[in-house]
Amino acid sequence: MKTDQVFGISPEVREYSYVDRGNLDDEMLRMLGRTIHVAVRGPSKSGKSWLRQKVLADPITVQCRLRKPFVDIYVDALSQLNIAIQIKESRQGVFKATLSAKGEGGAALLAKVGFTGSLGRERTTLAELKHVGHDVDDLRFVADIIRASGRRLVIEDFHYMSTEDRRGFAFDLKALWDYQVFVVIIGVWSETNLLLHLNPDLAGRVTEIPIDWIRADLMRILTKGGSTLHIEFDAKVRDKLVDLSYANAGLLQALALLTLDDAG
Ligand SMILES: Nc1ncnc2c1ncn2[C@@H]1O[C@H](COP(=O)(O)OP(=O)(O)OP(=O)(O)O)[C@@H](O)[C@H]1O
Ligand SMILES: [Mg+2]
Repeated sequence: MKTDQVFGISPEVREYSYVDRGNLDDEMLRMLGRTIHVAVRGPSKSGKSWLRQKVLADPITVQCRLRKPFVDIYVDALSQLNIAIQIKESRQGVFKATLSAKGEGGAALLAKVGFTGSLGRERTTLAELKHVGHDVDDLRFVADIIRASGRRLVIEDFHYMSTEDRRGFAFDLKALWDYQVFVVIIGVWSETNLLLHLNPDLAGRVTEIPIDWIRADLMRILTKGGSTLHIEFDAKVRDKLVDLSYANAGLLQALALLTLDDAG
Protein backbone atom coordinates (compact mmCIF):
# COMPACT_ATOMS: atom_id res chain seq x y z
CA MET A 1 0.00 0.00 0.00
CA LYS A 2 1.38 3.42 -0.94
CA THR A 3 1.30 6.25 1.57
CA ASP A 4 -0.79 8.45 -0.72
CA GLN A 5 -3.45 5.76 -0.95
CA VAL A 6 -3.91 6.08 2.80
CA PHE A 7 -3.19 9.69 3.72
CA GLY A 8 -3.70 13.03 2.00
CA ILE A 9 -6.54 15.05 0.54
CA SER A 10 -8.82 13.25 -1.86
CA PRO A 11 -12.27 13.82 -3.34
CA GLU A 12 -13.10 10.16 -2.74
CA VAL A 13 -13.33 8.63 0.72
CA ARG A 14 -10.26 6.62 1.71
CA GLU A 15 -11.37 3.85 3.99
CA TYR A 16 -7.88 3.21 5.36
CA SER A 17 -7.76 6.51 7.19
CA TYR A 18 -11.46 7.25 7.57
CA VAL A 19 -12.49 8.01 11.14
CA ASP A 20 -16.10 8.19 12.26
CA ARG A 21 -15.75 11.15 14.60
CA GLY A 22 -18.07 11.04 17.58
CA ASN A 23 -20.40 8.52 15.87
CA LEU A 24 -21.44 11.24 13.47
CA ASP A 25 -22.01 8.69 10.71
CA ASP A 26 -24.87 7.11 12.66
CA GLU A 27 -26.22 10.47 13.71
CA MET A 28 -26.28 11.62 10.08
CA LEU A 29 -27.97 8.37 8.98
CA ARG A 30 -30.61 8.81 11.65
CA MET A 31 -31.36 12.36 10.51
CA LEU A 32 -31.49 11.24 6.86
CA GLY A 33 -34.21 8.82 7.84
CA ARG A 34 -36.44 11.62 9.10
CA THR A 35 -38.82 13.86 7.22
CA ILE A 36 -36.56 16.90 7.46
CA HIS A 37 -33.89 18.67 5.45
CA VAL A 38 -30.36 18.10 6.73
CA ALA A 39 -27.82 20.92 6.68
CA VAL A 40 -24.16 19.96 7.18
CA ARG A 41 -22.00 22.86 8.30
CA GLY A 42 -18.26 22.96 8.94
CA PRO A 43 -15.05 24.71 7.90
CA SER A 44 -13.39 23.91 4.60
CA LYS A 45 -11.73 20.46 4.65
CA SER A 46 -13.44 19.38 7.82
CA GLY A 47 -14.94 16.32 6.14
CA LYS A 48 -18.44 17.36 5.05
CA SER A 49 -18.23 15.82 1.58
CA TRP A 50 -16.58 12.66 2.91
CA LEU A 51 -19.33 12.24 5.48
CA ARG A 52 -21.99 12.69 2.85
CA GLN A 53 -20.33 10.12 0.56
CA LYS A 54 -19.94 7.68 3.40
CA VAL A 55 -23.59 7.62 4.39
CA LEU A 56 -25.49 8.41 1.17
CA ALA A 57 -25.43 6.08 -1.81
CA ASP A 58 -26.03 7.49 -5.28
CA PRO A 59 -27.50 10.91 -4.52
CA ILE A 60 -28.21 13.62 -7.08
CA THR A 61 -25.31 15.90 -6.23
CA VAL A 62 -25.47 19.53 -7.33
CA GLN A 63 -22.36 21.65 -6.97
CA CYS A 64 -23.02 25.36 -6.37
CA ARG A 65 -20.85 27.79 -8.28
CA LEU A 66 -20.14 31.47 -7.84
CA ARG A 67 -22.66 33.76 -9.51
CA LYS A 68 -24.98 30.91 -10.49
CA PRO A 69 -28.67 31.60 -9.82
CA PHE A 70 -30.27 29.08 -7.45
CA VAL A 71 -32.76 27.83 -10.06
CA ASP A 72 -29.76 26.27 -11.80
CA ILE A 73 -29.96 23.71 -8.99
CA TYR A 74 -33.09 22.33 -10.68
CA VAL A 75 -31.53 22.43 -14.13
CA ASP A 76 -28.51 20.49 -12.92
CA ALA A 77 -30.49 18.04 -10.77
CA LEU A 78 -32.97 17.14 -13.51
CA SER A 79 -30.22 16.95 -16.10
CA GLN A 80 -28.68 14.16 -14.00
CA LEU A 81 -32.03 12.40 -14.38
CA ASN A 82 -31.97 12.92 -18.14
CA ILE A 83 -34.61 15.60 -18.13
CA ALA A 84 -34.12 19.07 -19.56
CA ILE A 85 -35.89 21.92 -17.80
CA GLN A 86 -36.24 25.41 -19.14
CA ILE A 87 -37.27 27.77 -16.38
CA LYS A 88 -39.33 30.71 -17.59
CA GLU A 89 -40.25 32.31 -14.32
CA SER A 90 -39.34 31.68 -10.72
CA ARG A 91 -40.16 33.98 -7.84
CA GLN A 92 -41.92 33.46 -4.57
CA GLY A 93 -45.06 31.46 -5.23
CA VAL A 94 -44.59 31.45 -9.00
CA PHE A 95 -42.81 28.74 -10.96
CA LYS A 96 -43.16 28.23 -14.70
CA ALA A 97 -41.04 25.87 -16.74
CA THR A 98 -40.96 23.43 -19.62
CA LEU A 99 -39.81 19.88 -19.12
CA SER A 100 -38.60 17.46 -21.75
CA ALA A 101 -36.87 14.11 -21.64
CA LYS A 102 -33.30 13.83 -22.86
CA GLY A 103 -33.32 10.07 -23.10
CA GLU A 104 -35.31 6.95 -22.35
CA GLY A 105 -34.54 7.21 -18.65
CA GLY A 106 -35.88 10.74 -18.52
CA ALA A 107 -38.95 9.82 -20.54
CA ALA A 108 -39.69 6.91 -18.21
CA LEU A 109 -39.38 9.20 -15.22
CA LEU A 110 -41.71 11.79 -16.78
CA ALA A 111 -44.21 9.04 -17.53
CA LYS A 112 -43.95 7.89 -13.91
CA VAL A 113 -45.08 11.28 -12.64
CA GLY A 114 -48.00 11.45 -15.01
CA PHE A 115 -46.79 12.96 -18.29
CA THR A 116 -48.30 10.23 -20.38
CA GLY A 117 -47.12 11.77 -23.61
CA SER A 118 -50.15 11.71 -25.81
CA LEU A 119 -49.42 13.56 -29.02
CA GLY A 120 -52.74 14.37 -30.61
CA ARG A 121 -54.91 11.36 -30.03
CA GLU A 122 -52.32 8.64 -30.15
CA ARG A 123 -50.25 7.48 -27.23
CA THR A 124 -46.61 7.80 -28.11
CA THR A 125 -43.75 5.48 -27.32
CA LEU A 126 -41.12 6.49 -24.79
CA ALA A 127 -38.74 7.29 -27.63
CA GLU A 128 -41.18 9.74 -29.16
CA LEU A 129 -41.97 11.26 -25.79
CA LYS A 130 -38.40 12.51 -25.70
CA HIS A 131 -39.18 15.40 -27.97
CA VAL A 132 -42.31 16.64 -26.26
CA GLY A 133 -42.05 19.72 -24.07
CA HIS A 134 -44.37 19.80 -21.07
CA ASP A 135 -45.31 23.15 -19.58
CA VAL A 136 -45.58 23.11 -15.81
CA ASP A 137 -46.60 25.85 -13.42
CA ASP A 138 -45.59 24.49 -10.04
CA LEU A 139 -42.38 23.41 -8.32
CA ARG A 140 -44.37 20.30 -7.38
CA PHE A 141 -43.52 18.73 -10.75
CA VAL A 142 -39.81 19.09 -10.10
CA ALA A 143 -40.34 17.65 -6.62
CA ASP A 144 -42.38 14.73 -7.98
CA ILE A 145 -39.63 13.86 -10.46
CA ILE A 146 -36.94 13.92 -7.78
CA ARG A 147 -39.11 11.73 -5.54
CA ALA A 148 -39.84 9.33 -8.38
CA SER A 149 -36.11 8.93 -9.02
CA GLY A 150 -35.74 7.52 -5.51
CA ARG A 151 -32.53 9.52 -5.08
CA ARG A 152 -31.66 12.16 -2.49
CA LEU A 153 -30.87 15.70 -3.61
CA VAL A 154 -27.58 16.99 -2.21
CA ILE A 155 -26.50 20.62 -2.61
CA GLU A 156 -22.74 20.95 -2.18
CA ASP A 157 -20.93 24.21 -1.33
CA PHE A 158 -24.07 26.19 -0.61
CA HIS A 159 -21.92 29.16 0.51
CA TYR A 160 -20.82 29.78 -3.07
CA MET A 161 -24.26 31.20 -3.86
CA SER A 162 -25.09 34.83 -3.17
CA THR A 163 -27.15 35.64 -0.08
CA GLU A 164 -30.08 36.47 -2.32
CA ASP A 165 -29.90 33.11 -4.06
CA ARG A 166 -29.46 31.29 -0.78
CA ARG A 167 -32.57 33.02 0.50
CA GLY A 168 -34.46 32.17 -2.68
CA PHE A 169 -33.57 28.52 -2.28
CA ALA A 170 -34.40 28.58 1.44
CA PHE A 171 -37.93 29.63 0.45
CA ASP A 172 -38.15 26.83 -2.10
CA LEU A 173 -36.98 24.44 0.61
CA LYS A 174 -40.27 25.03 2.39
CA ALA A 175 -42.21 24.11 -0.75
CA LEU A 176 -39.98 21.09 -1.39
CA TRP A 177 -40.60 19.95 2.18
CA ASP A 178 -44.35 20.21 1.60
CA TYR A 179 -43.88 18.02 -1.48
CA GLN A 180 -41.83 15.54 0.59
CA VAL A 181 -38.48 16.14 -1.01
CA PHE A 182 -35.92 16.28 1.80
CA VAL A 183 -32.68 17.89 0.76
CA VAL A 184 -29.13 17.69 2.11
CA ILE A 185 -27.46 21.12 2.11
CA ILE A 186 -23.71 21.25 2.64
CA GLY A 187 -21.51 24.28 3.12
CA VAL A 188 -19.25 26.55 5.09
CA TRP A 189 -20.98 29.02 7.37
CA SER A 190 -20.32 30.05 10.93
CA GLU A 191 -23.71 31.14 12.23
CA THR A 192 -25.86 28.35 13.64
CA ASN A 193 -29.04 27.52 11.76
CA LEU A 194 -28.29 29.61 8.70
CA LEU A 195 -31.31 28.24 6.83
CA LEU A 196 -33.66 29.36 9.60
CA HIS A 197 -32.25 32.87 9.39
CA LEU A 198 -32.89 32.85 5.67
CA ASN A 199 -36.41 31.48 6.05
CA PRO A 200 -37.93 31.23 9.55
CA ASP A 201 -40.70 28.99 8.16
CA LEU A 202 -38.14 26.20 8.01
CA ALA A 203 -38.24 25.91 11.81
CA GLY A 204 -38.72 22.24 12.72
CA ARG A 205 -38.25 21.25 9.08
CA VAL A 206 -34.47 21.31 9.02
CA THR A 207 -31.75 20.03 11.28
CA GLU A 208 -28.19 21.28 11.22
CA ILE A 209 -25.23 18.98 11.78
CA PRO A 210 -22.04 20.84 12.68
CA ILE A 211 -18.76 19.12 11.95
CA ASP A 212 -15.91 19.57 14.32
CA TRP A 213 -13.03 17.43 15.45
CA ILE A 214 -11.74 16.61 18.90
CA ARG A 215 -8.11 15.73 19.47
CA ALA A 216 -8.72 12.04 20.19
CA ASP A 217 -10.47 11.53 16.84
CA LEU A 218 -7.69 13.33 14.97
CA MET A 219 -5.19 11.02 16.68
CA ARG A 220 -7.21 8.06 15.40
CA ILE A 221 -6.68 9.21 11.80
CA LEU A 222 -2.93 8.83 12.34
CA THR A 223 -3.14 5.51 14.19
CA LYS A 224 -5.65 3.96 11.79
CA GLY A 225 -3.80 5.05 8.65
CA GLY A 226 -0.47 4.18 10.25
CA SER A 227 -1.50 0.64 11.07
CA THR A 228 -2.59 0.07 7.47
CA LEU A 229 0.91 1.08 6.39
CA HIS A 230 2.50 -0.93 9.24
CA ILE A 231 4.11 2.15 10.70
CA GLU A 232 3.70 3.92 13.97
CA PHE A 233 4.02 7.66 14.34
CA ASP A 234 6.20 8.61 17.29
CA ALA A 235 4.01 10.04 20.08
CA LYS A 236 5.79 13.40 19.83
CA VAL A 237 5.33 13.55 16.06
CA ARG A 238 1.67 12.67 16.45
CA ASP A 239 1.13 15.43 19.00
CA LYS A 240 2.95 17.92 16.82
CA LEU A 241 0.95 17.00 13.70
CA VAL A 242 -2.35 17.31 15.55
CA ASP A 243 -1.26 20.67 17.01
CA LEU A 244 -0.35 21.97 13.58
CA SER A 245 -3.60 20.83 12.00
CA TYR A 246 -5.72 23.30 13.98
CA ALA A 247 -8.46 20.71 14.51
CA ASN A 248 -8.84 20.23 10.76
CA ALA A 249 -8.93 16.68 9.37
CA GLY A 250 -7.94 17.68 5.85
CA LEU A 251 -4.93 19.65 7.06
CA LEU A 252 -3.88 16.73 9.26
CA GLN A 253 -4.14 14.32 6.33
CA ALA A 254 -2.00 16.59 4.16
CA LEU A 255 0.59 17.03 6.93
CA ALA A 256 0.70 13.28 7.59
CA LEU A 257 1.47 12.61 3.93
CA LEU A 258 4.16 15.32 3.81
CA THR A 259 5.76 13.93 6.96
CA LEU A 260 5.90 10.43 5.50
CA ASP A 261 7.29 11.82 2.23
CA ASP A 262 10.04 13.54 4.21
CA ALA A 263 10.79 10.42 6.21
CA GLY A 264 11.30 8.64 2.89
N1 LIG B 1 -13.85 11.13 8.52
C1 LIG B 1 -12.61 11.41 8.10
N2 LIG B 1 -11.57 10.66 8.51
C2 LIG B 1 -10.33 10.95 8.08
N3 LIG B 1 -10.02 11.97 7.25
C3 LIG B 1 -11.01 12.75 6.82
C4 LIG B 1 -12.35 12.51 7.22
N4 LIG B 1 -13.14 13.44 6.63
C5 LIG B 1 -12.32 14.21 5.91
N5 LIG B 1 -11.04 13.81 6.01
C6 LIG B 1 -9.88 14.45 5.33
O1 LIG B 1 -10.22 15.81 5.07
C7 LIG B 1 -10.19 16.06 3.66
C8 LIG B 1 -11.28 17.03 3.30
O2 LIG B 1 -12.55 16.40 3.45
P1 LIG B 1 -13.83 16.90 2.63
O3 LIG B 1 -13.48 17.03 1.20
O4 LIG B 1 -14.94 16.02 3.02
O5 LIG B 1 -13.99 18.34 3.29
P2 LIG B 1 -15.16 19.40 3.08
O6 LIG B 1 -15.63 19.73 4.46
O7 LIG B 1 -16.15 18.90 2.11
O8 LIG B 1 -14.34 20.65 2.52
P3 LIG B 1 -14.82 21.79 1.48
O9 LIG B 1 -15.76 22.68 2.26
O10 LIG B 1 -13.54 22.49 1.16
O11 LIG B 1 -15.47 21.10 0.33
C9 LIG B 1 -10.32 14.71 3.01
O12 LIG B 1 -9.72 14.69 1.72
C10 LIG B 1 -9.58 13.82 3.99
O13 LIG B 1 -8.20 13.90 3.74
MG1 LIG C 1 -16.69 19.49 0.17
